[in-house]
Amino acid sequence: MTPTALPTTDGLPMTRGRCPFDPAPGLTALRAQAPVARMVFPDGHVGWLVTGYETVRELLADGRLSSRGDALRSPIPLPMADDRTEVAPGMFTAMDPPEHTRYRRKVAAWFSARRTRTLEPLLTALAEQHLDAMTAKGADGTPVDLLTEFAEPMAASAICELLGVPVAERAHFADCVKRLFSVHSSAEDAIGGWQTIGGLLHGLIRAKKAEPTDDLLGTLVAEGDLDDAELVTVGTVLLIAGYDTSANMITLGTFALLQHPEQLAALVADPALAPNAVEELLRYLTIVHAGSIRAAGEDMEIAGHRVAAGDAISLSLAAANRDPALVADPDRLDITREPVAHLAFGHGIHQCVGQQLARLELRIAFEILLRRLPGLRLAVPADEIRTRAEMIIYGVHELPVTW
Ligand code: HEM
Repeated sequence: MTPTALPTTDGLPMTRGRCPFDPAPGLTALRAQAPVARMVFPDGHVGWLVTGYETVRELLADGRLSSRGDALRSPIPLPMADDRTEVAPGMFTAMDPPEHTRYRRKVAAWFSARRTRTLEPLLTALAEQHLDAMTAKGADGTPVDLLTEFAEPMAASAICELLGVPVAERAHFADCVKRLFSVHSSAEDAIGGWQTIGGLLHGLIRAKKAEPTDDLLGTLVAEGDLDDAELVTVGTVLLIAGYDTSANMITLGTFALLQHPEQLAALVADPALAPNAVEELLRYLTIVHAGSIRAAGEDMEIAGHRVAAGDAISLSLAAANRDPALVADPDRLDITREPVAHLAFGHGIHQCVGQQLARLELRIAFEILLRRLPGLRLAVPADEIRTRAEMIIYGVHELPVTW
């Protein structure tokens, strides 16, 4: 097919159908019809949308694609007017090698499976405390919001613990990160939130220079390879990438389990299934539903189609993870499946650096919730729960529960 013969979608399909856990029907239809299609980006650029598992995976590992922030275009409208901004020093998510490699190496060691495992006792204790607070609030049967009362504090604890944000400052940090993602935030709010986090991190870096600490930020400060501006950006990236994702995955994962009672019962009956359940929920829900975004670094061919240097390419992780080419019966949540090579954390050199931490948080959260609250249930009808269909990270705006 020539590019003109390919279907063209006006923007990334984001509107969900009846089931809140299934990807947008528009994405699923495109994957069946044209796993590589043309897409009009919000700024008018006509680029590409890839929805088939094999091609998405291949492209994520293809060194000819660029992640440079000044070459990328957002696949969804953002409050920040122009998304093709200069890349701040330290913003490694929006860099290519060798710059990307330099920063990524510095932080990756902190997120290794081995180091993450050492956090388990502490994260478990913190999760118990957050659940104590949540259950105290709902002790008289009043519904409580699992997102704000449990999932968000847990996600904040995990990333702040690793970075070295003191307990007293965590709520403030978390509030600023939340403001960045709120649909109610204007461009000014978002920029304000970004600057406030920067200010808080500057303060923290000063404190760590005066009194060294052996956490991630303290160690980077002590090594002295990065200047203050780089340190602030690396810290901000980690806070932002690690907070909203985990909080939404814990909440949406709980919602999905409550709506699949047979899966929930299987997990309660056999808690050893928890690691499998976490992988399957990651695949089934694929909360980074705006996907990965790249730009062609040179003229190239993708699945037989000619792509020009500079073309934007939106890679749908959500559609890829429901591709029958990845797994049989992809639209069924089945926590007893053997884990598959899903793309919920991306793939290639930008694959989620915090994935082991995320897995640990999710496992602890589900284990504690199911063990301590066997009567956990939604406090409102499922169809009244508002989803974040239009946001980069999918999830729900609140999950009122009782037990
Ligand atoms: C369930 C939770 C999470 C999900 C689903 C998730 C998903 C993802 C995905 C899909 C990417 C790749 C984006 C791309 O290809 O452009 C990514 C990258 C990243 N994630 Fe996560 N993430 C989660 C939790 C975390 C946590 C806890 C951290 C901790 C700091 C984190 C830090 C990062 C960073 C820094 C990157 C960029 C890596 C790079 O550019 O080299 N994420 N994540």
